[in-house]
Amino acid sequence: MKLACHIGLLVACLLAPAAAHAQPGASGDAPGEVTFSRDIAPILQRSCQTCHRPDSIAPMSLLTYDEARPWARSIRNRTALRDKPGTMPPWFIEKDIGIQEFKDDPSLSDEEVSLIAAWVDSGAPEGDPADLPPPLEFRAAGEWEIGEPDLVVSSPTVEVAADAADWWGTIGETPLGLTEDRYVSAIEFREVTESREGPGRGTVGGLFVFHHGTITIIDADETDPAAGRGTWPVHEVGRNADFFAPEAGKLARAGSRLTWLSMHLHANGAHTRARLDVGLKFHPVGYQPTRQTESVFFGNGVDLDIEAMEPDQTAVAFFTLPQNMKVSIFEPHMHAVGVRMCLDAIWRHTVQTLNCAGYDHSWVRVYTYADDVAPLLPRGTTLRMTGYFNNSPSNPNVPDPRNWTGGGQRSVDQMFINLMRGAYLTDEEFAEEMSRRREAHGIQPGDIVVGCPLCGSERPLDVLGAQQ
Ligand code: HEC
Repeated sequence: MKLACHIGLLVACLLAPAAAHAQPGASGDAPGEVTFSRDIAPILQRSCQTCHRPDSIAPMSLLTYDEARPWARSIRNRTALRDKPGTMPPWFIEKDIGIQEFKDDPSLSDEEVSLIAAWVDSGAPEGDPADLPPPLEFRAAGEWEIGEPDLVVSSPTVEVAADAADWWGTIGETPLGLTEDRYVSAIEFREVTESREGPGRGTVGGLFVFHHGTITIIDADETDPAAGRGTWPVHEVGRNADFFAPEAGKLARAGSRLTWLSMHLHANGAHTRARLDVGLKFHPVGYQPTRQTESVFFGNGVDLDIEAMEPDQTAVAFFTLPQNMKVSIFEPHMHAVGVRMCLDAIWRHTVQTLNCAGYDHSWVRVYTYADDVAPLLPRGTTLRMTGYFNNSPSNPNVPDPRNWTGGGQRSVDQMFINLMRGAYLTDEEFAEEMSRRREAHGIQPGDIVVGCPLCGSERPLDVLGAQQ
């Protein structure tokens, strides 16, 4: 439900969710008053406390009223940013356009943002502690998002001086130690600090020295480190874990090695020794994938041309799908000057915006579509990506916007890529996926479905055939 909270509706907007939580007679609060205990604590539990608790990555804990109260104003300001850089929680999908259902989406509804604002503007009252939801039980610090990994592979230790220049290159390889072939179902990267002399810089990246890294897994008899088995996710600061589509596990063969292909090391202000750990979850022995996950990375590199002191700059890139595809991942990847990306699907005369997302280079987010809304795009669909760049003093991620900047591999250079992933489908598989989609959503012939241009066609395979 989308509820517009303009002034006339404000009272209704605020009362509706509050009334839903209220226990008649259990609370002495004035009716309609927004309180921490009843209204705000459940929001913090769902969307904030995984990070805002002791020993996690955020600068302050938001578990209790006493902890949250001093931050009230800042909480209101950050949550009101919605999809703009700096927003909390860090999730940048624009809610007024495109597909809206994603896996593990922590973002706030318009109603929740209004509740927070109303709570802060009315003096951030605590309310009746009896209204508090039971406290959450957290994963211990050091636990993995993917659950306990079946295998953890550690990189060699690197040492980065407090003020070292940036460095990038390969740091060797580590045998996986597998005695039989296994299919990987999920992967997560984690930087482990082995020693650190001093507090370092106060930025998000200030905790880390591995700014990013690409890996691959190579077979036992292979000598060329670039001859990896498929494309694996890239490690980046602030990135969440990756779960591969259940029908498309990725193969790691017996005797294979993980190559630390291209690591970018970046000083954090304190002399640091650290390593990268990769946690892998496997499918059971005997599992066979029925599909292959394809990485369709597309975008611009060397030809990016970003003027100095200009807040509103754009670039476009195109990619035409050679085969029908079910897209599972939208992953805007830019660098410091990037602030927004939109992805459109163009099929014949139909242009659909699949998604637009803000971008904040402190938070590299992977957006995994929920299964029954993942784009189903016929071969011949052209994907158009539009990037928005701000190289001016109003972008706090840019160290010195007086400089021209352009494409390149280093973090001080720029990128404009969608690290998209999905599965290529035969016409029959594609037709099956579409009929499942039609059933699940009651789609009728003639309906327009964002992300599925042929779902509303009566004879999609004929249309597809005519495309060849
Ligand atoms: C994925 C982890 C994560 C989640 C989820 C998250 N935060 Fe944060 N938050 C951080 C980190 C890290 C910082 C410090 C860096 C920054 O400002 O981006 C931060 C900064 C903030 C700040 C600014 C603090 C200051 O110094 O002024 C506020 C306010 C805040 N978060 C509130 C929230 C609220 C409210 C939520 C939920 C609606 C939330 N955060 C969800 C990690 C998170």
